[in-house]
Amino acid sequence: MYRTHNCGELRINNVNQDVILSGWIQTIRKLGGMTFITLRDRYGLTQLVFDENISDELKQKVESLGREFVVQVNGKVIERSSKNPKMPTGEIEIVVNGLSILNKSEIPPFTIEDETDGGDELRMKYRYLDLRRNPVRKNLELRHRMGQEIRKFLDGENFMEIETPYLIKSTPEGARDFVVPSRMNLGEFYALPQSPQTFKQLLMISGFDKYFQIVKCFRDEDLRADRQPEFTQIDCEMSFVDQEDILNTFEKLAKHLFYEVKGITYNEKFPRISYQDAMKYYGSDKPDLRFDMKFVEITENVQGKGFKVFDDAEYIGGINAKECANYSRKQLDELTKFVQRPQVGAKGLVYVKCNEDGSYKSSVDKFFSQEDLKMWTDLFNAKQGDLLLILAGSKNSTLNALNELRLEMGNRLDLRDKDKFAPCWVMDFPLLEWDEEEQRYFAKHHPFTSPKDEDIELFGTDPGKMRANAYDFVINGVEIGGGSIRIYNSDLQKKMFEALGISKEESEDKFGFLLDAFKFGAPPHGGIAFGFDRWCSVFGGSESIRDYIAFPKNNSGRDVMIDSPSQIDKKQLDELMLILKK
Ligand code: AMO
Repeated sequence: MYRTHNCGELRINNVNQDVILSGWIQTIRKLGGMTFITLRDRYGLTQLVFDENISDELKQKVESLGREFVVQVNGKVIERSSKNPKMPTGEIEIVVNGLSILNKSEIPPFTIEDETDGGDELRMKYRYLDLRRNPVRKNLELRHRMGQEIRKFLDGENFMEIETPYLIKSTPEGARDFVVPSRMNLGEFYALPQSPQTFKQLLMISGFDKYFQIVKCFRDEDLRADRQPEFTQIDCEMSFVDQEDILNTFEKLAKHLFYEVKGITYNEKFPRISYQDAMKYYGSDKPDLRFDMKFVEITENVQGKGFKVFDDAEYIGGINAKECANYSRKQLDELTKFVQRPQVGAKGLVYVKCNEDGSYKSSVDKFFSQEDLKMWTDLFNAKQGDLLLILAGSKNSTLNALNELRLEMGNRLDLRDKDKFAPCWVMDFPLLEWDEEEQRYFAKHHPFTSPKDEDIELFGTDPGKMRANAYDFVINGVEIGGGSIRIYNSDLQKKMFEALGISKEESEDKFGFLLDAFKFGAPPHGGIAFGFDRWCSVFGGSESIRDYIAFPKNNSGRDVMIDSPSQIDKKQLDELMLILKK
């Protein structure tokens, strides 16, 4: 028997019991003639004591121990004289009378403790050691708990978990496909799914009614903190539903998770905000609603006073940073530099301080009178002590820059508490998006999303104005999920492909199977997919989804532990009839 207990479970009421523990050595401390060792496993830490009277043989073994050795000990549980209230097992320790070394360890490249001295790259290279650390393991425990609760909830709602293939055909979903050459079909390639989108629709046509899958998806796109080349979706689809049915079902799932995993009860409905309003008030289709600070547009109210930046601007608007009129020159300079960063893209920042004495101080005093500034502050509903921050320029880029500025102010004012959650639905997305570079429309969501009934007639006249039956689920400014009611009629689907500039031949080639399937009694259906990694990271209070993935890739898409991607043998290339271009 390797152990009678794990390293996290012994308490004061176990005193005097003989126990056997196995685990890794976290620390070794010598004090006088005594040696104290903390032994670790997944469940916790237990202190071991080797006193002066141990046998010479045991003494020798203790001398040879090092960090991360795997050992088995037997001994007696005793009450500690100096208790450690921070450790669950801190009231007891084990007086050891037998020790076997199950395996030695080299000195680990970084300390395996909550606060480690290892940098990111090093910890990624030795990810299996990093995973021994509490905070990383806890993240995966959170992920496990969420996965279990999701399955429990969806099973309870009659959803069937069905797997779909990974070796499929390239489908346009917005990102680049990862492709896999086929040896048995030389010159041909599979694509890895960006999502199981077409399969889940086919399952509805097969009559499965409610499907879900916790599934890997693959997208060859530029990586960020919230993007990995392979990530996991909670993918769902339902038949005979309208948008309201879907929102209600998955709002229930979200509330179930909030309650079971975070202990938070939501009685009220999640707020719903249209895409148009989200852009107007927050400059983003994934607004962080933990704080207000809505944009106020003042374009019409401030032009014509000789200030060229305003007079030439398509859009002028700003935010009210409450109680920030005491911002110093230095702080305002920092904000100006912030908005001028290339990622933010504004040319400059205009501010108005609402002084406590009722006067106004602005960076554009040369052009605007005290009355002008008072009128602005009324538009912003600002009070004495508030600070207006205003940007001007072309509409989309200014809205985008204001979004960045709003989030930055949210950070500076501690309004983005990671233990607070603000979920919402963003609705009524445009169906199509015009791409200047390619001079054609792209599907805002994907090509299988249905337009709103009342907008269908715009296909021929003004497709850019069409709205979709599409929705995103957002928590704290992170897009957690997105879905739509689908097209289920081959004529409408063909119209959609046409609007996207996909030729008849290409749509037959890529989606003939789906268009065919629509001919055999496709039920009305719709669904959603949640980014599981993102949901875990928001619940865990981290910006990076990597922390919630056991073996993630780095920002260049590399797994530095297994050193992948890597070259393949000439023999493998030959079998696939592939030649690498120089
Ligand atoms: P969408 O493309 O919006 O929809 O993806 C759904 C959710 O998946 C997450 N996500 C990602 N997470 C990590 N890394 C990535 N590279 C990544 N890309 C997306 C996001 C996103 O909201 N088939 C449709 C869903 C549907 O219509 O039902 C789809 O895949 O959280």
